Amino acid sequence: MPLVSTKKMFEKAYEGGYAIGAFNVNNMEIIQGITEAAKEVNAPLILQVSAGARKYANHTYLVKLVEAAIQETGLPIALHLDHGDTFELCKSCIDGGFTSVMIDGSHHSFEENIELTKKVVDYAHERGVTVEGELGRLAGIEDAVSVSEKDACFTDPDQVEEFVKRTGVDSLAIAIGTSHGAFKFKGEAQLRFDILEEIQRRMPGYPIVLHGASSVMPEYVEMINKFGGSMPGAKGVPEDMLRKAASLAVCKINIDSDLRLALTGTIRKYFAENPSHFDPRQYLSPARQAIKEVVKHKLVHVLGCDGKANEVL
Ligand code: G3H
Ligand code: 13P
Ligand code: ZN
Repeated sequence: MPLVSTKKMFEKAYEGGYAIGAFNVNNMEIIQGITEAAKEVNAPLILQVSAGARKYANHTYLVKLVEAAIQETGLPIALHLDHGDTFELCKSCIDGGFTSVMIDGSHHSFEENIELTKKVVDYAHERGVTVEGELGRLAGIEDAVSVSEKDACFTDPDQVEEFVKRTGVDSLAIAIGTSHGAFKFKGEAQLRFDILEEIQRRMPGYPIVLHGASSVMPEYVEMINKFGGSMPGAKGVPEDMLRKAASLAVCKINIDSDLRLALTGTIRKYFAENPSHFDPRQYLSPARQAIKEVVKHKLVHVLGCDGKANEVL
């Protein structure tokens, strides 16, 4: 089974009212935790690599690890560039075997975003690779993507149709109130479902992507706080909101922070309970297991894509 693009995944997800999980990967244990979970529930997967991940782990290592996961699981998996910010980065990932790329031109003007996105789409489509664009800006802070909260702006449905038509982009990430990282909402969580529904009304069948979709699972925040960490006020997107988004036009839901929290919480707990241990296999095994449990929970109870792998094969 070779790597697949996201085309058929999104067609089936849209039809079926579910979403594909797009999980960020940085090393072998994270890839194993995610793919073992998907194998157990027979779910299609998107494994995504940021520029930072590529710098940390090396392009070739990540591609080979993902190929190994396909060999082990037989699942349909897309290898996707997360938040590509230049044509050159997208090209390098396409040339290097990725089956999907994101070109995030959301910090550019509308016209510049169109120009950049179209250039990536033209290059990618000639090579059978799918492209995700972004319109609107998410709040929050992450390593490579930093947008202050007051700069955040929701996606304007008036612009979406023109953007998609002029670029030919295969899917679109929109800003409806989610943000990256572990501190998403100060008060009550609110998402602009009216914007999502308006986009869906104007463009039926078109796949939408939701970034910043970690729920910031309280059990792992509590674990971090209990075992020497400090994350007061960490708060994510409620899972019922994600389920609702998945039942609408959202076909791809991006989750990274929840995996980071599970991994870090579990390792903190491990060292608190075993202060003299120093074999990495001892603390990475429960961390990998925690990632597996989180991903299984997301696939079955949040995204609804369990049992759907065969639809894509
Ligand atoms: O949205 C981005 C992901 O959480 C990846 O973050 O750039 O720190 O790898 P990163
Ligand atoms: P979280 O920080 O909510 O996990 O979002 C990840 C993401 O959008 C990756 O592109
Ligand atoms: Zn993102």
